[in-house]
Amino acid sequence: MKDDRLVSGKKFEEDGFETSIRPDSIDEYIGQTEVKENLNIFMKAAKMRGEALDHVLLYGPPGLGKTTLAYIIANEMGTNIKTTSGPAIEKSGDLAAVLSTLEPGDVLFIDEIHRIPRFIEEILYSAMEDFKLDIIVGSDSSSRSISIDLPSFTLVGATTRVGDLTGPLRDRFGIVDRLNFYTEEELTQIVLRTSRVLKSPINEKAAHELARRSRGTPRIANRLFKRVRDFALVEGKPEIDLEITKKALEKMKVDEYGLDATDYNLLNAIIDKFNGGPVGIDALASSIGEEASTIEDVYEPYLLQNGFMKRTSRGRMVTDKTYKYLNKKVNDTLF
Ligand SMILES: Nc1ncnc2c1ncn2[C@@H]1O[C@H](COP(=O)(O)OP(=O)(O)O)[C@@H](O)[C@H]1O
Ligand SMILES: [Mg+2]
Repeated sequence: MKDDRLVSGKKFEEDGFETSIRPDSIDEYIGQTEVKENLNIFMKAAKMRGEALDHVLLYGPPGLGKTTLAYIIANEMGTNIKTTSGPAIEKSGDLAAVLSTLEPGDVLFIDEIHRIPRFIEEILYSAMEDFKLDIIVGSDSSSRSISIDLPSFTLVGATTRVGDLTGPLRDRFGIVDRLNFYTEEELTQIVLRTSRVLKSPINEKAAHELARRSRGTPRIANRLFKRVRDFALVEGKPEIDLEITKKALEKMKVDEYGLDATDYNLLNAIIDKFNGGPVGIDALASSIGEEASTIEDVYEPYLLQNGFMKRTSRGRMVTDKTYKYLNKKVNDTLF
């Protein structure tokens, strides 16, 4: 199944507007207080020493602001940012090419860093540790290894699956931060900020309603905002209010908790097909025609955090809360 759900944290094509609403300073970056406080100190110290910031690893579910933070780091450090991603690095030459464009102090952002092929990772080790690019040139008989000096730079790596990183790579990051789901209050602030940037007014109550149903994820909050804004426009409302927000969310089938049809599918499958669990992730995935990795990265983090699902050594289980919630839903449609 294609992951094109409205309430998926994953990025879609239509999220291109994100760039325009991305905060570009750390003060504008809402929430993640601890991460921000630490980074602020490390950045300040690096500037005082006149050095590049230590390498930073950011991890957490999609849509929580990893890429945004990478750009903010470069902005705050007053340096350039060069970007690439794990899947884009297929041969050692691909990595060598980006590394050789770096200027002193630059930020190199590698998204989905867990997807860099293992045999290329080693090049990254010496680049990160000694700022040296060690590569092998020439073919079989005449091959030799050469070492090129690199300027000091900051590698910012982002990943949704920190467990997939090898120990040696992970250990080379001096700063490792996990981004967490946002509170309703923080998401309300994010919605209000987006409304200001896009110059389309929303009142507090409506902003809070959107926040409540955004699965703790700024990307989803912004996406829902954009859709609700369309409803308001078509209905000729100058300001987005609670009424139009509720109506729009209902039309888009996003429920009170921000759960949608795919979540229902997943939870119902555990109950109906596996008697509530525990069920292994692979069996669960194939029962709903979904990739195991998509369930792990995109769907379940929020369900786990909110107690709709539990992870045990024997697999995934639903909880009493899930039974109650889904039953309540059945009753709701009955009456
Ligand atoms: N802390 C934040 N404050 C305000 N907006 C945010 C914040 N984090 C993320 N966003 C918004 O959410 C969108 C998705 O964030 P992004 O950095 O692309 O997430 P990730 O890289 O973790 O998938 C961004 O375009 C930005 O507008
Ligand atoms: Mg990203």
